[in-house]
Amino acid sequence: MEFTKSLILIVSISSLLLSINAVPTTSYTALTPAASEPGRLIGIRVIPEVILFCKDTENPILCAETIVPYFQGEFNPIVALHSEFEATLNQSLKVANIIAQLQVPKEAIDALDICKKQYEYIVDTIKEADELLNISNVVDAYYKFASVLAYRSACEDAFVESNGVLNPFAEDSLIVYQLGGNCLAILDGIINSNYRF
Ligand SMILES: *[C@@H]1O[C@H](CO)[C@@H](O)[C@H](O)[C@H]1NC(C)=O
Ligand SMILES: *[C@@H]1O[C@H](CO)[C@@H](O)[C@H](O)[C@H]1NC(C)=O
Repeated sequence: MEFTKSLILIVSISSLLLSINAVPTTSYTALTPAASEPGRLIGIRVIPEVILFCKDTENPILCAETIVPYFQGEFNPIVALHSEFEATLNQSLKVANIIAQLQVPKEAIDALDICKKQYEYIVDTIKEADELLNISNVVDAYYKFASVLAYRSACEDAFVESNGVLNPFAEDSLIVYQLGGNCLAILDGIINSNYRF
């Protein structure tokens, strides 16, 4: 189901990418898969700016999905980036909440403690990155997001060393990695002047 939706989105985004050269960047393009398809972006307008904004990230579909619902009117890359930060923060808070309620076998207690700490760091660091973005310090915001990914890896590694106990929140943690990676890629794009500020 999720896969089918993603596929619809990939096809839609690909055709939007193809049409970018053909349409003025101010025009709106409706993403409306067949009415019977429960695509996640049905009813939401995706403007070419969002496609351009997300296209260099590792997960452009996730990027578009997390950004599109959160802006009205004219596209603003900084507002879009704030949304991607917030999506990463929300997902990290979700993982932190899972960790707080989790019971694990004793082999994994140390790993869980490490993860608890790492996700505290992650939440604080994303908030710091958001403050930096607010004062247009994109370079330091970039380094903050690099640390977010490092903290997240430290948690994953702790489970690798927990005598065969698998990470019970691996799927949710993977989404933190994908969203955080998107933020990093977008910041990198801004630093390398692909976007005007
Ligand atoms: C993050 O969570 C808050 C509170 O639940 C919600 O209002 C907001 O829309 C979410 N933001 C994103 C980008 O998902
Ligand atoms: C950054 O600015 C936005 C928009 O003005 C605001 O909503 C947000 O709370 C600010 N974030 C921080 C961490 O100060």
